Amino acid sequence: MKKITVELANPYTCLIERGALRHAGTLAKKYVEEGNRAVIVTTAPIRKHCGAAVEASLRQEGVSFHVLEMRDGERYKNLSTVEDLAVRLTQLGADRGTVILALGGGVVGDVAGFLAAIYMRGISVLQLPTTLVAMIDSAIGGKTGVNLKTGKNLAGAFHHPRAVLIDPEALTTLPEREYRSGLSEAIKYGIIRQPGLYQLFEQRGEEIRRREPAVLDPVIADCVRAKAEIVAADEKESDLRRILNFGHTFGHALEATTEYRHFLHGEAVAWGMIAACHLAVRLRRLRAETARTLIQTILKTARPLPSIPATASAVLAHTATDKKMRSGVLHFVLPRDIGTVEIVRNVPAAAALEAVREIIQLSQNSKQMNGQAEL
Ligand SMILES: NC(=O)c1ccc[n+]([C@@H]2O[C@H](COP(=O)([O-])OP(=O)(O)OC[C@H]3O[C@@H](n4cnc5c(N)ncnc54)[C@H](O)[C@@H]3O)[C@@H](O)[C@H]2O)c1
Ligand SMILES: [Zn+2]
Repeated sequence: MKKITVELANPYTCLIERGALRHAGTLAKKYVEEGNRAVIVTTAPIRKHCGAAVEASLRQEGVSFHVLEMRDGERYKNLSTVEDLAVRLTQLGADRGTVILALGGGVVGDVAGFLAAIYMRGISVLQLPTTLVAMIDSAIGGKTGVNLKTGKNLAGAFHHPRAVLIDPEALTTLPEREYRSGLSEAIKYGIIRQPGLYQLFEQRGEEIRRREPAVLDPVIADCVRAKAEIVAADEKESDLRRILNFGHTFGHALEATTEYRHFLHGEAVAWGMIAACHLAVRLRRLRAETARTLIQTILKTARPLPSIPATASAVLAHTATDKKMRSGVLHFVLPRDIGTVEIVRNVPAAAALEAVREIIQLSQNSKQMNGQAEL
């Protein structure tokens, strides 16, 4: 069992082990006081894949629990789901000693985390992530929340879990496209601060794509360590935590331009990272040769990527409205070298526009090249 601690004033541990969900009861027992209960928040499909192991383990450890299912999918990550779950908690008689177990991907983690943040002004939550994105990103760091009609993740709270239990075996059933989308977030950590992790993608990319435990598990551990370190060093989103947004300014713009229906998040981030490489070269802050290597590795990891059905100016217009933009000035996280990025402010719009043109062109070329680039 690997243990990675998020070193905050109230530290917590991320435990990583194949088969860990089968021992979820042992962990829960530490947090659920005698006479109190755990409530698993999950969705029906996730429960089908991962629920039995967790429930059996809770029973075995004598931890009493209920299961609350929410509907599956990003469109249910909203306040009405949270309200519905909160009402059901009161009906179960949940009190301040109740412990929530968030069993699922980022959607369940964000919703259940937010529920825990606000229910009776805050109760404990354990994160049990079942997607790659959740394991390496959303379950760690305490950002919780839901979407509003007017935009993604606009209502939320910081509420750290008491612990995170990561079982890479859960990924066995994850749909291919979801898995690959998560890999883009994984390679991101390599590019922003872990050259060794990046090299794993370069050298053993195929094994990673095949989900081979011998290399996948260390990749997950490296990502968790990177996220935990960044969160600990910079809990409240200033410059260090901002480097996690590498690929995300363009990525969010691509998602928004296509109304969140065309790309999975990680796919948009992959294109966004490629655009950031082009932009960095254009601004003479990254060697063209390094950019080529990075772009190749990103494409090899994330392929096939859906092509980009938008004009560069439409994408740029959304870049300018990204909530991470400060006072009308475009700023980007750009690579300087493998394993290092920098925040570059006052980027001329014309350069950003050219970078978007490059990825649109590339997406069209790759469509022609293998005819299969689109999903
Ligand atoms: N809080 C944060 O810091 C943070 C960070 C990154 C992303 N997020 C959020 O995370 C969400 C995306 O999360 P996601 O990518 O995990 O998607 P998701 O939670 O929607 O899960 C994707 C799909 O995979 C299925 N699934 C989950 N686990 C499975 C398994 N083991 N086997 C088979 N199917 C499984 C789910 O049923 C779902 O349909 C977004 O809402 C995003 O905003 C939050
Ligand atoms: Zn992301």
